[in-house]
Amino acid sequence: MPDLPSTVQQAAYDLKSESSDPLCAYIYDLPALRRHVSGIVRALPANCDMFYATKANPALPVLQALSPIVQGFEVASGGELDWVRQHFPDTPVIFGGPGKLASELENALDQRVELIHVESLLELRRLCNLAEHRQTRQDILLRINLELPSAPSTRLTMGGVPTPFGMEERCIADALAILAQQDWVRLRGFHFHLMSHQLDHHRHLALIERYLDTVRGWEHQFGLTVDQINVGGGIGINYVEPAQQFDWADFHAGLTNLLARYPDRPWRLRFECGRALTAACGYYVAEVLDIKACGDEWFAICRGGTHHFRTPAAQAHNHPFQVLPDAKGPTDGPNIVNAPVTLVGQLCTPKDVFARQVYGQTLCLGDLVVFQYAGAYAWNISHHEFLMHPHPREYFID
Ligand SMILES: Cc1ncc(COP(=O)(O)O)c(C=O)c1O
Repeated sequence: MPDLPSTVQQAAYDLKSESSDPLCAYIYDLPALRRHVSGIVRALPANCDMFYATKANPALPVLQALSPIVQGFEVASGGELDWVRQHFPDTPVIFGGPGKLASELENALDQRVELIHVESLLELRRLCNLAEHRQTRQDILLRINLELPSAPSTRLTMGGVPTPFGMEERCIADALAILAQQDWVRLRGFHFHLMSHQLDHHRHLALIERYLDTVRGWEHQFGLTVDQINVGGGIGINYVEPAQQFDWADFHAGLTNLLARYPDRPWRLRFECGRALTAACGYYVAEVLDIKACGDEWFAICRGGTHHFRTPAAQAHNHPFQVLPDAKGPTDGPNIVNAPVTLVGQLCTPKDVFARQVYGQTLCLGDLVVFQYAGAYAWNISHHEFLMHPHPREYFID
């Protein structure tokens, strides 16, 4: 039997039996989400907080499951801010992201955002002017694109190399000068998010150590004391070797040791993880609706496509999956017997591919292909309206 939780298997079969059309659905396992994130948060050292990066998956049941577990939500647009505040009026919210509109900054002042992560000197000036004009106090972090001795080691890089994210280290003196000219905006610390897809906990600890040493240097250089260091998100999911995921247990132990080296600093460390928290709770289920051979390759056309589930196209990988055989048994076919298959969707583009030349077992019409790790940057990053196919079913196991 496939290595899928029995509740997910059951939900997939139940949803399939509810319609005569082939199935296409997202299934989210909320009890598993709660267990996973509680474990991560509970094991963090005492002076650490975990915020959830809403951009990874802002579905309300997901946020509702997470809100009692995490310390707050990170938002990266006025839309996310409104969504979170509408449903969680009292949950701590932090607001980051490049290119904030003046209206979004005003909204943040109205909505009692705990910290704004300021991305440029211009944004800092705008915020100071707004806060002063409205006589509203606001705490901030400066997002810094730190220079690193070597480029970061993952595919998705937001810092350590030239990017539009945050400001260069040499802007700090100017930022402090802007802040010194007013009393409404207060610096609480620094924000770093240099990469996503980090799978190596040793490298991640080394990066955090660099942040901490750098902040200590800035405190000394600029005569500052800060109390917040946001070390970003970026902890990855191993889609290619799903059995080998980020080693949270070792990471927690290493982080405890690392923080013990700064006993004199009053810092709180804040994480704002997205993918690492929610990817594993989501499944995209696509029923095999046609099978054909072309040359010496087999193709299985599944109900749905990358307009629902863009993750494999966005990451250019073969997405991990399991197959649930049709409960009614194999049809007359065409079926694939013990041969590799390319799994595609219903879109009229050769880019609509979930996985190429994979599996090598028997695959039949009516089987359900269940893509794992579909709970983050999946439905919400997809181009839903392309070709006007109906949206997938959405089911939350709770
Ligand atoms: C500033 C910032 N924080 C947090 C995240 C969440 O990253 P991840 O989902 O990789 O943890 C992102 C993602 O792009 C980001 O840009």
